[in-house]
Amino acid sequence: MCGIIGYNGFREANKVLIDCLKRLEYRGYDSAGIGIIGKKLQIFKEVGEISKLEKEIPVFDGDIGIGHTRWATHGAVTKENAHPQLSSNKKIAVIHNGIIDNFNFLKEDLEKKGVKFSSQTDSEVIAQLINENYKGNLRDAVISTIKQLKGSYAIVVVCKEEPDILVGARKESPLVIGVGDNENFLASDISALLKYTNRVKYLDDGEICVLSKTSIEVFNENKKEITKKEDIIDWELKDAEKSGFPHFMLKEIFEQPDAINRVLLGRVSEIDRTIKLHEKVEELLNYDIQSIHIIACGTSYYSGLVGKYLIEQLTNIPVFVELASEYRYFGTKNEKSLIIGVTQSGETADTLAALREAKNAGSRTLVITNVMGSTATRISDAYILTQSGPEIGVAATKTFTSQILILLLIAFKLAALKNKLGADELSKYIFRLKELPRKVREVLDHSDKILDIALQLKNVKSVFFIGRGINYPLSLEGALKLKEISYIHAEGFAAGELKHGPFALLTQITPVITIVTRDNTYDKMIANIGEVKARGPEVIAIADENDTEIEKHADFVIRFPGSSSPLSCIPIIVILQLLAYHVANLRGCSIDKPRNLAKSVTVE
Ligand code: F6R
Repeated sequence: MCGIIGYNGFREANKVLIDCLKRLEYRGYDSAGIGIIGKKLQIFKEVGEISKLEKEIPVFDGDIGIGHTRWATHGAVTKENAHPQLSSNKKIAVIHNGIIDNFNFLKEDLEKKGVKFSSQTDSEVIAQLINENYKGNLRDAVISTIKQLKGSYAIVVVCKEEPDILVGARKESPLVIGVGDNENFLASDISALLKYTNRVKYLDDGEICVLSKTSIEVFNENKKEITKKEDIIDWELKDAEKSGFPHFMLKEIFEQPDAINRVLLGRVSEIDRTIKLHEKVEELLNYDIQSIHIIACGTSYYSGLVGKYLIEQLTNIPVFVELASEYRYFGTKNEKSLIIGVTQSGETADTLAALREAKNAGSRTLVITNVMGSTATRISDAYILTQSGPEIGVAATKTFTSQILILLLIAFKLAALKNKLGADELSKYIFRLKELPRKVREVLDHSDKILDIALQLKNVKSVFFIGRGINYPLSLEGALKLKEISYIHAEGFAAGELKHGPFALLTQITPVITIVTRDNTYDKMIANIGEVKARGPEVIAIADENDTEIEKHADFVIRFPGSSSPLSCIPIIVILQLLAYHVANLRGCSIDKPRNLAKSVTVE
């Protein structure tokens, strides 16, 4: 939520800021703005997407500036509420990501002192407070201010009277320093910086940084200087560009064979017939684990549900999958339980809060994430990187597949540790794992068949997705993908649940997508299809290529390669992603930036 960028260097700041904001737009696209310090402090803001800002922006001179793309929390989508936010005397400009919980109290206090506010945002309070605290040293004013703030923030501040520096600070919202030669950056996301540098320093909560063109100083709240190590990011600029695809989402769907290989590389060995995870991760899995809690939100929560089926089937260890926003307040915490946080961004506020709660209660915490250096990697006991490369499309695709694979590797590892999986059986699984990239490629090669089905769906009002076992969370994810990018109402159900209520919503014009695998649920699924058909709707079945029966029951069939197995979930999910993509594309929707959504939900 909200993308932020600060630049201090030798280039034209407004060009760098617009360029970086375009790469941050997936964080929010309600409004955007930049502030440049040249001879004076110049601010320009627009409601709408960055392209609009870029079109209208005047030529600003200056090589230091800040830029922001907003996902509104406090205050409507207006120019006044866009960032940068200014102090009333226009001396201080601030960009902010996060939520200031005590802003009403601080605002009232400032108003009593005669400060006039011009926006409804909580962020303006930060600018006004820094101005109040300013006694000739911006760093000190920022330190005094953050001590008064309750809530979460990543801020970058410029001051007319110290036009050579940027000051940044963070608490519970992401902010990373990009290190360049005679230029330095601050950004909410690494992918914004890749064109300029791959050298980064991670700020921790409660730290304040001061950036000139040639120096980076980091302090704690007691003004003590802290030495930060520099890390190198192995993502490349091309990973964060569309590379000829019409949308990031399609590019990321097509990157999945490669993403799968990256998960398996170095972790799965066909020769040794072993699964090898990082030492710290294996240490965590080696404890006497009596239960596992998987904590996540949205699509990552659904990968957790898939993980539950896989881990329980292979190990018998009970797995509880919890929505992070609920778990943090209501979840049972138990130190014998291993907590697995699943978060693509590593910055989802609810998941981070839940992980902190669990850790405070004495649980061991493991995180599955795609972003090296993200907050999740730094607050957990160990982490596993999905290594999918940057995911820019708001709808998660390749990271979902990779999360499931990592959970599968954890299941194999635990099963092997508990002697529930013999070497021969593991070998068979390893062989099938290695086949997955090819199977996914086959699905991608037949994307046109999925487009044919999408044509049938493009004008419908509502779609049901049903499945049993592992196919139930896949149904939930299929429905989420469709609704979030096509705006068609879609619901996923456990197939056995239809009779317990949802059937009331089913009409002749509600297509039902059924995921049918040839396992112990097959006959029941066929019976469920019969019940649906008896009420008139069309049934689209996703079934394996060897299923010769399914055509007798379903109106349309989409095949996935190979025969059914727990690993079929990967090609199936790719089918569901392509289906959602094609439907949304046919409807002319804004696929990479669906309305009201943002890639990384850093507020609760
Ligand atoms: C949907 C989607 C979201 C995220 C959710 C959690 O396509 O991407 O539902 O899965 O916001 O995000 P992370 O995984 O970053 O914690």
